[in-house]
Amino acid sequence: MSNLPILQYEDKIIETVEKNAVVVIIGETGSGKSTQLSQILLRRGYANSAAIAVTQPRRVAAVSVARRVSQELGVRLGEEVGYAIRFEDRTSEKTKIKYLTDGVLLRESLSNTKLSHYSVIILDEAHERSLNTDILLGLMKRLIKLRESNFKVLITSATLDGEKVSKFFYDCPVLNVPGKLYPVEILYSKERPVSYIESSLKTAIDIHVREPEGDILIFMTGQDDIEKLVSKLEEKVRSLEEGSCMDAVVYPLHGSLPPDMQVRVFSPPPPNCRRFIVATNIAETSLTVDGVVYVIDSGYVKQRQYNPSTGMYSLDVVQISKVQANQRVGRAGRTRPGKCYRLYPTAVYRDDFLDATIPEIQRTSLAGSVLYLKSLDLIDMDILKFDFLDPPSVESLEDALKQLYLIDAIDENGIITSIGRTMAELPLEPSLSRTLIEANENGSLSQALTVVSMLSAETTLLPGRSKPAEKKRKHDVSNLPNGSGFGDHIQLLQIFECWDHNHYDVEWCKENGLQVRGMMFVKDVRKQLCQIMQKMSKGSLDVRARGRKGSSQQEYRNLRKALTVGYANQVAERMFHHNGYRTLSFKPQLVQVHPSSVLSTDEEGMFPDYVVYHELISTTKAFMRNICKIEMPWVNPIKRKLEKLNIRKLSGGSVCSADKSEEKLTGLPENDPKTIVIPENIDSKIQAAKERFLARKGKK
Ligand code: CDP
Ligand code: MG
Repeated sequence: MSNLPILQYEDKIIETVEKNAVVVIIGETGSGKSTQLSQILLRRGYANSAAIAVTQPRRVAAVSVARRVSQELGVRLGEEVGYAIRFEDRTSEKTKIKYLTDGVLLRESLSNTKLSHYSVIILDEAHERSLNTDILLGLMKRLIKLRESNFKVLITSATLDGEKVSKFFYDCPVLNVPGKLYPVEILYSKERPVSYIESSLKTAIDIHVREPEGDILIFMTGQDDIEKLVSKLEEKVRSLEEGSCMDAVVYPLHGSLPPDMQVRVFSPPPPNCRRFIVATNIAETSLTVDGVVYVIDSGYVKQRQYNPSTGMYSLDVVQISKVQANQRVGRAGRTRPGKCYRLYPTAVYRDDFLDATIPEIQRTSLAGSVLYLKSLDLIDMDILKFDFLDPPSVESLEDALKQLYLIDAIDENGIITSIGRTMAELPLEPSLSRTLIEANENGSLSQALTVVSMLSAETTLLPGRSKPAEKKRKHDVSNLPNGSGFGDHIQLLQIFECWDHNHYDVEWCKENGLQVRGMMFVKDVRKQLCQIMQKMSKGSLDVRARGRKGSSQQEYRNLRKALTVGYANQVAERMFHHNGYRTLSFKPQLVQVHPSSVLSTDEEGMFPDYVVYHELISTTKAFMRNICKIEMPWVNPIKRKLEKLNIRKLSGGSVCSADKSEEKLTGLPENDPKTIVIPENIDSKIQAAKERFLARKGKK
């Protein structure tokens, strides 16, 4: 630890921090930025009056770095050193160094805009360019003006373009901490492999058999591929002749591993044993595993992208950027000279890879972030003009404003409503926080809390869903409830209520193929959301899960109504005489019920006329995932709102003084107030025909 590069710069760092409000620190991954900077500042008295906050874009990193620092300081985790991530707070009055996700810091700034409980804020891993870090960068810029004295901001990064950030912060100083990196030989493949799993396997075994000791780090795109490769590697290693080479162990490393499995890679390897570490890009910069000498880089990464004009998410395997490729190389040279096997030709690297990764702010939905910004009550807050390091597209900001308007978080003038303020305080995505608020009004809060917790668990709970084939859950041989024809949300509710009825029995989960850890987490999330709701309403809300008797039909109905309000931007209307749907608030497009859904058809084989969906994903086709049946009369107010939408007003800038945003909204005819594409004429004709048809049938 004492030889970490950053420690040699302690005096220089302190000197620069003394003289400047903002300092950018660039240092190789593993140079000690995340674990040492906070300790340096602590030693030098920066935590005397208030605490030091260190943000991490990844939950795993926040937890593992906090644990490491508490060990180094010899204190109990949660006391002097603690961490806070969504739904888990391990800090106390005593906490001087607090690791927290950037999202948690953003939410803290809602109740304490000046963040006065911190003397220093370190925005760590800024190179990841996570959405929340980007928003925080903009907020810090305002905050350093507001809090003139005794407040410091440090921005650290492994690869970030320091000049750009320095410019953003009025030419603040940039400190470079040269890491000691041993030379790494880069070996290219002649061509792209047909299967990168097979190719990684072969390369890894070749290294194991031929090369001297040293751990092998293999980059995969996701958990499924990691699991496949881990089992293939284990099998291959077992089949090698005894004594022909050294022993080997294989470790997976990704964000959804249970904590004890995650920390395993940080403990020293067994003697005379080679480790294969099969990881996602989490091992690129966030986590440093010592002992790696060989890196296998497929050149791919899985990236979630959002298309604001269609409201559609896709989880695409995309090529990494040059910056990422070089980060991966660097992982091999930390302890001695290493080798990096690139499973792609040099021309691909040179010609096809982007120079830098596209920041998340330019490829995600911004509704949550825009809501935060609105609720901070910053003066002159015109969202379309917010000072971003890299601005998102106007289209995605407008998409966010539209959603917030449809779910009543902002009014038609873009002013945040009291509903919007309450929503911002809930640690949930806007659609879910809106659902909770509505459910609280209409008597289905208990049910909504359950569904929201199930959807927020961030792990796969249900059998069949985790399998790549996504086979139909309704055909599973299981005794799980089926949503009573209303769809997935109601099924999630019923499952939790059954579990409650079975006294939260672990065996019951196993018998029904439910992930035990995931379900326990849901229970915990639900408890926390209950506490937050109780606190906000200062009262005694009825939040108990309905165990024995389950929820009533009336409660199902109220819940579906509340979901319609929360998902107002995610309503789909079935096409006339057709089982495809069309989304209401995006450009006309056809979407389908995901095969994993339990939503059922009527006796004529037709799906419900109207549904709300949790997510639109684009794979082979455009699918809605997690779907709930709703009723037509509930949709009418949403349609009316869509018709009178005026985006420019929503942004918060006054319509007449929108001189600058005019510039940004290029491509639009002048004098034409920007409106969202509303269902075209043809669709309303179809709708009229459909209504006539239904009237004839006397169904509605
Ligand atoms: O942030 P940066 O990449 O500059 O380095 P760091 O995360 O502070 O890591 C410095 C050293 O601490 C590395 O050698 C890591 O292997 C070690 N470390 C660890 O052993 N366990 C952790 N949970 C985090 C870091
Ligand atoms: Mg770090």
